[in-house]
Amino acid sequence: MSELNNLALQIISNGKGILAADESTGTMTKRLENVGVESSVKSRLSFRETLFTASNMSNCIGGVILFDETINQEVNKKKIPEIISDQGTYPGIKVDTGAKMLAGSKNEKITEGLDGLRERLKVYNNLGAKFTKWRGVYFISKEYPSKLAVYSNAHALARYAALVQEANMVPIVEPEVLMDGNHSAKECYDKTSVVIKKCFDELILNKVDLTGIILKPNMILAGSNSKEKISGEEVAKLTVECLKNSVPQDVPGVAFLSGGQSEIEATENLNLINKNNTTNFIMTYSYGRALQQSALKHWSMNIKDIKGTQKIFNHRAEMCSLASQGKWSIELENK
Ligand code: 13P
Repeated sequence: MSELNNLALQIISNGKGILAADESTGTMTKRLENVGVESSVKSRLSFRETLFTASNMSNCIGGVILFDETINQEVNKKKIPEIISDQGTYPGIKVDTGAKMLAGSKNEKITEGLDGLRERLKVYNNLGAKFTKWRGVYFISKEYPSKLAVYSNAHALARYAALVQEANMVPIVEPEVLMDGNHSAKECYDKTSVVIKKCFDELILNKVDLTGIILKPNMILAGSNSKEKISGEEVAKLTVECLKNSVPQDVPGVAFLSGGQSEIEATENLNLINKNNTTNFIMTYSYGRALQQSALKHWSMNIKDIKGTQKIFNHRAEMCSLASQGKWSIELENK
């Protein structure tokens, strides 16, 4: 077993998943302002530190994805990556610099951040990062994602992953096909398959060790404006089928993004995926909103109530952990 394979497995095995706390300052500002909290360096750190010191971090969270601002912060002279490592959890870092308009396409995006990445990776590794994330984003419409967007983002994801492995860290490869739109689940299935297959073509071309990556895909869902309502069982069946047909066997595991699903939806769907998992891949979570939403809401109204906020986060993390083992139920959720 290679070192990177071992590390990837440690992040996502034994009922553990990933906390995506890598919202850029712009996104985090929107999230905080939505709940009536002013966004500042201090408020962003305060909420995040509350999560990182919660007790279920050790049992349920194998890795935390940080944003550049947070990995450089400290609390009482203790660096954030150290606070996370003390929980037995691996610190990770988002290294892309965001999705920009793709020249040659009218409305699609290409994720940037390759220039100078080798040097930045060294800095992050010295700060304690053990894994990284890069997100490519794709829209579904009649003509999208275009061949150009599928190819360009796969190429960038693969060059990123090769550089990260060269720096001895595990790359999370995140091709996110967005839920926005009125497309059917079948269209999501077909387009996600094309996107993932192209990513692996490029990863292989760039000689990335597939045993030392974590894939972070979307689940197969009908568009958020679609009239089609499909059951959780159907989501699970389509998602497992799609990954079975498009992900090479060498990949140790898949950690889904929540992508705008509610906390319960994202948990229930993950649970059903695990109940119907006919692949050898570990199927777990790498959730942002579906791990943080309720905790953030509570915290915004009771900023001093650290224990209460942590209790809500602990519950969410425990429910996601159960779901990653196919052991979640609505009774446990409401207990
Ligand atoms: P959500 O779970 O909120 O979609 O965030 C996951 C993530 O890291 C998106 O890049």
